Amino acid sequence: MEHSMKDCHCRITNKALEVVLDLGMQPLGNGFISSKDKKDEYFYHLEVGFEAESKMLQLLRQPAPQLMFHENYAFFSSTSSFMQEHFKNFAGSVLRTPLLTADDPLVVELGCNDGILLKHFATRNIRHLGIEPSQNVALVANKNGVNTIEKFFDEDVSHDIVSQYGHADVFLAANVMCHIGSIVEVAKGIENLLKLEGVLIFEDPYLGDVIEKCSYDQIYDEHVFIFSALSVQNLFNSVGMEIINLERQSTHGGSMRYTLGKIGVHTPSPVVKKIIQDEKKLGLDKIETYFDFAKNVAASREQLVSKLKNYKREGKVVSAYGATSKSTTIYNYCDIGPDLISYVTDSTPIKQNTLTPGTHIPVVNPEKFYQDPPDVAFLSAWNHAYEILKKEAPFSDKGGIWLTHVPNVIEL
Ligand code: TMP
Repeated sequence: MEHSMKDCHCRITNKALEVVLDLGMQPLGNGFISSKDKKDEYFYHLEVGFEAESKMLQLLRQPAPQLMFHENYAFFSSTSSFMQEHFKNFAGSVLRTPLLTADDPLVVELGCNDGILLKHFATRNIRHLGIEPSQNVALVANKNGVNTIEKFFDEDVSHDIVSQYGHADVFLAANVMCHIGSIVEVAKGIENLLKLEGVLIFEDPYLGDVIEKCSYDQIYDEHVFIFSALSVQNLFNSVGMEIINLERQSTHGGSMRYTLGKIGVHTPSPVVKKIIQDEKKLGLDKIETYFDFAKNVAASREQLVSKLKNYKREGKVVSAYGATSKSTTIYNYCDIGPDLISYVTDSTPIKQNTLTPGTHIPVVNPEKFYQDPPDVAFLSAWNHAYEILKKEAPFSDKGGIWLTHVPNVIEL
């Protein structure tokens, strides 16, 4: 594996970033490995900075995108039935608007993964195009009847798309924009690709939730930015676009759906002003908020490690539920390995029989959880808590303990 690392070229101003949080040396969040590859594992220093002028919270530097998004990308969106439902509703909300009333409209999605969102347009014979850099998931999307090209999107690609397909009515992205270091290039490409009345609708984990819930595990290599309405407004204003609507989402532990149009073309909803005011009340525009956040993160680590050490002293078996990329940040920042968590279960076949990145906890098929239940299950996929706790009710009924760290380290 090529060991490549670069400073984030993701500034929207040329101002310096001030480091607010240091999460130490980290492997790739999705870098699940086999034991034979342990010695070649890639690590980088995960530091988070705040840029006062653009109000952007972001990584200082990131691994090369080719290290993160490739033919073995381990995340398949469609593994969660809750997310399936979410994307069906997301598509429904676009289909109900007047956005697609033009003659032969075009819907483009950036990072369409296995086609979980775009398939709802494909099945209605709406002209669509997915742009997905990870080959394995792009193949699944194409198999699912979703017209997908395997590419990293930028301004040049946007020109190619315009010549082949024309301008787009709607540009979608879900849990993708925050992954892209070259965001300014992407924003320019989107502005170029959209029709005059076209809109960009994207959603990503929301900074307000991260600060309020101390969900620092949202921070890993793939999440270069943790967006707020404040920072998204600044970013897109720089390419001639503005926010016209904001909708909070419960997905991924708390997300925001941003709708943007070209400046002056649409009337922004009053909710935009309201949410920006709320963000200022929460202090998202001030660096002190992030220094306080860093203190909360350190306290969360103390509590989690102490809880796991107590279970160990009591002879309890602890497993984790969900080999999430988020949990990579926790395990490495808190130095949690197989001595504290015996194994992690995950329903994604490609993750099974691997080791968690960095601290090497075995990842196994969920069958183990049913055949030989642990005393305690750490809810590493806490963002899917509703779905998991409902599905796994027999575990708690038989005395199993669920442990979470969000918003506090507590047994559920
Ligand atoms: P995510 O937090 O990035 O969505 O990843 C969730 C991970 O948890 C993913 O690898 C699939 C796994 N998972 C299970 O193993 N069982 C489940 O019931 C759910 C919802 C997720």
